[in-house]
Amino acid sequence: MNKNLLSNRVKNMPESATLKMAQMARDLKSRGVDIVDMSLGEPDFDTPADIKERAKIALDEGYTKYTPVPGLPVLREAVIHKLKRDNNLDYNMDQIVVTNGAKQAIANICLALLNPGDEVVLFTPYWVSYDSIIKIAEGVPVIVSAGIEQDFKILPEQLEAAITPKTKLVLFSSPSNPTGSVYSSKELEELAKVLKKYPDIHIISDEIYEYINFGKGHASIAAFDYLKDRVIIVNGMSKGFAMTGWRIGYMAANAEIAKSCVKIQGQFTSGANSFGQVAAAYALNHGIYNEMVDKFNERRKVFIKLLKEIPGFKVNEPTGAFYLFPDISYYFGKSNGKITINSSIDFSEHLLNDAHVATVAGTPFGAPECLRFSYATSMENIIEATKRVKEFAKGFEQ
Ligand SMILES: Cc1ncc(COP(=O)(O)O)c(C=O)c1O
Repeated sequence: MNKNLLSNRVKNMPESATLKMAQMARDLKSRGVDIVDMSLGEPDFDTPADIKERAKIALDEGYTKYTPVPGLPVLREAVIHKLKRDNNLDYNMDQIVVTNGAKQAIANICLALLNPGDEVVLFTPYWVSYDSIIKIAEGVPVIVSAGIEQDFKILPEQLEAAITPKTKLVLFSSPSNPTGSVYSSKELEELAKVLKKYPDIHIISDEIYEYINFGKGHASIAAFDYLKDRVIIVNGMSKGFAMTGWRIGYMAANAEIAKSCVKIQGQFTSGANSFGQVAAAYALNHGIYNEMVDKFNERRKVFIKLLKEIPGFKVNEPTGAFYLFPDISYYFGKSNGKITINSSIDFSEHLLNDAHVATVAGTPFGAPECLRFSYATSMENIIEATKRVKEFAKGFEQ
């Protein structure tokens, strides 16, 4: 075995905790164990039928070839229309890049903008892939943390304290994975005022959960004129349209950044899939599919109520995405006579093995005191899962 086979880049990447958990759950399921899966990061709904229909027609129309690297004009136009209609933001064609999911947009941006040692301020808890993508691009993540007592939202003074002469980017998602927290326009304005003072810093605003919002509506940090040119909006079809497998995302940025991302993308993927882009244009022109969002909201309300009934669980009431992220640190150091819980990883692994509920520990999201539950599953599963968690947690109460 050649010990130099693998690059340092890949050797230094931690094993994905979410994938490990999914594998453990799959192994148990294959042995016939009845697992309630609350670990999923994707809508449990199928893509709406009219969107699928549009893709089938696009195939018959001959959309089977490479598209322009930045995306089909019809989709870039639909993105521009969407950004005006939903966000009151003006963009031109040369500012929009269609990508293989929002994830690739983030990778493009980090590879296009970061030099080794450049710092990226990461609002924490963060989505797991941010940390790895920044490191692959040889950037340095700088963690700024907010706990459940501040609804997992970063305050302007925290942001300012994290900025150094090496800061190149600020990266956050709202609505957030893993917390479900949504920044209001007022809260974003406070952050924008800090960033106004640092003209060399750019902001990646990941808005992939924009449509899964049960509060007062979506706000983008690009809405502040003095900042817009430095904000890179990342969004896509995966969550709001239940199109995770289609791999279509997009970004909107100033033309220089957009062009540099097209350059990277041209070498890595040549662009996103053709017929999916036609269907994505159709979906964006249609706008939000409310039925799905209403279902998520019904589940959210029930799930919050049920989780709050579990002793020791600190639960907030997030208004976006489809996750709850309770603080379970009350259980650290506690034993049920058989096992002792010392971390959220312990809690989630034992919960899976003993109570057969799959969750994701907060550790890979930068919040070891929390546990991520996804309610992208049936109401029946939500009720059953909380029953099991309650019973499991009771064992540690003596
Ligand atoms: C915050 C966040 N951004 C981006 C993505 C990736 O989305 P896509 O499927 O468009 O690559 C996810 C997926 O889980 C996410 O949670």
